[in-house]
Amino acid sequence: MKPIRIALTKGRLEEHSIELFERLGYDCRAVREKGRRLILPIAGTNLEVVLAKAADVVTYVENGVCDLGVVGKDTIMEHGGTFYEVADLGFGKCRFALAAPKGKDFYAGYQTKRIASKYVRVAHSFFEKKNMDVDIVKIEGSVELAPILGLSDGIVDIVETGTTLRENGLEVVETLAQVSARLIVNIASLKLRKAEIEPLLTQIEGYLKENQP
Ligand code: PRP
Repeated sequence: MKPIRIALTKGRLEEHSIELFERLGYDCRAVREKGRRLILPIAGTNLEVVLAKAADVVTYVENGVCDLGVVGKDTIMEHGGTFYEVADLGFGKCRFALAAPKGKDFYAGYQTKRIASKYVRVAHSFFEKKNMDVDIVKIEGSVELAPILGLSDGIVDIVETGTTLRENGLEVVETLAQVSARLIVNIASLKLRKAEIEPLLTQIEGYLKENQP
């Protein structure tokens, strides 16, 4: 029988995601001892874990090659897509923020501001709502460099502890949205494999209810 595939985001959310499944009673030893393998079984079940980059988790779930996924709301907001977002898993908490060099009035002056971001779509919709015309430059990582190097007036990025901003002379100007890990489900899978997926969702919901902060 075809396994139920769960795509987990590699990196920051990975450990929390594995812990969640372990707390639910699943044997995640293969995932913990993965080496360089990217698809790992959960022993004694029909579940398989797929380890992927955040945006690819959305792509795999949207296209139905993975049935479920754990991915940050930041990625969902940036990439969009058609799937069910069924639960806020409560970990990977951070926020989207507009940040700029400390002590500088970001909104001062009339020239068009330049914003650097990995999250071009999120940044665009934030400034569009403000009716503010900005130039957005796509940066792939360590976005904090852009204003320091003089490429941009500010950045739109995720802020968790605020350390990266602080240590690079930047500060939050405004918070755009709160972010955390979400459980997503392929629309067809939920219909066609309801008998297998629904008990898992019920189990996760129950766990989240009991373990609310
Ligand atoms: C993220 C984000 C910030 C940093 C924020 O980057 O882009 O740079 O974390 O965390 P903090 O508020 O706790 O300092 P990440 O580490 O994912 O790497 P990247 O910049 O290369 O994408």
